[in-house]
Amino acid sequence: MDKNKKRVLSGIQPSGYLHLGNYFGMMSKMIDYQEKNDLFCFIADYHALTANPSPEILISNTYDAVCDFLALGLSPEKTTFWVQSDVPEVSELSWILSSYTGVGLMERSTTYKDKIAKGLKPNMGLYSYPILMAADILLYNSNLVPVGKDQKQHIEMAREIAKKFNANYGEVFILPESDIVKETQLIPGTDGQKMSKSYNNTIPIFGKDEEIRKKIMSIITDNTPVSDPKDKDTPLFRLFCLFADESEKKALSEKYDAPGLRYGDVKLELFEKIMDYFSPYRKKRSLLHSKPDDIKDILSFGAKKAKLIALEVLDKVKSTVGIGFN
Ligand code: TRP
Repeated sequence: MDKNKKRVLSGIQPSGYLHLGNYFGMMSKMIDYQEKNDLFCFIADYHALTANPSPEILISNTYDAVCDFLALGLSPEKTTFWVQSDVPEVSELSWILSSYTGVGLMERSTTYKDKIAKGLKPNMGLYSYPILMAADILLYNSNLVPVGKDQKQHIEMAREIAKKFNANYGEVFILPESDIVKETQLIPGTDGQKMSKSYNNTIPIFGKDEEIRKKIMSIITDNTPVSDPKDKDTPLFRLFCLFADESEKKALSEKYDAPGLRYGDVKLELFEKIMDYFSPYRKKRSLLHSKPDDIKDILSFGAKKAKLIALEVLDKVKSTVGIGFN
């Protein structure tokens, strides 16, 4: 690997079907990193376990997340792509780090408090979630960690943990920087709020045609009469713009300004555009999904690459703290 390239690492929790908000928010940006950086990308199944999903759901969500990434263009050759639990050394490092992490630091975790407030049962996995995340980051000598702003505190915690460890033992860990992925464009959901599964306002990318069409037809609009100009600061117009080039945007904008526009027509056009845009990805996704043996091969190739670095770092840490004789 080119030593001048920055190692960029990020994990995504497998959480079910993918929607436009995920894609234009984090995922497409992550995939772009593979062109100029040494991208390490993994599916964080151990983190997902903290919410105690059923085993069937966890397995199928993990498999789906892998297929989503690959279908959308993540390259197993250009990147190191694996499932977190396929490199179990991460939980070993997590244990070691937990012995050097103050309870006070964990108590300041805002995501823990949020999750409990939302009704998740407090368990030790949820509580130590940031330590496992620090282990993910530090085990692979990551330089840069792109995350959404809800994860910023976790990266700061990983830095804290690494700094404290290094202060005691010398430069064992590389200090990671966070790269907060600003949502340059907020993706509106069908009800106009931010698109999110928790608002039940998403448009899935790999859903059935009919399901996607229904979601698009349900985008809220106002009751401006057909003969009046229409408001463009609205979810339908903004969603359309994600898939339109400059001249198409201009044409739609003119239609919104003039009388005669019917929202139903715009919705149908948006449906066609979304289907066209994702059509190659949808084909690739369904092909990949039907070949579990190929997926397994890709993942074991990724896990092998990841493990090379993981073992190197873990050995260094273990001998530093006095675990193991050799
Ligand atoms: N907690 C992250 C999220 O929910 C996922 C994650 C796990 C992660 N380990 C990571 C992100 C390490 C970046 C680096 O989005």
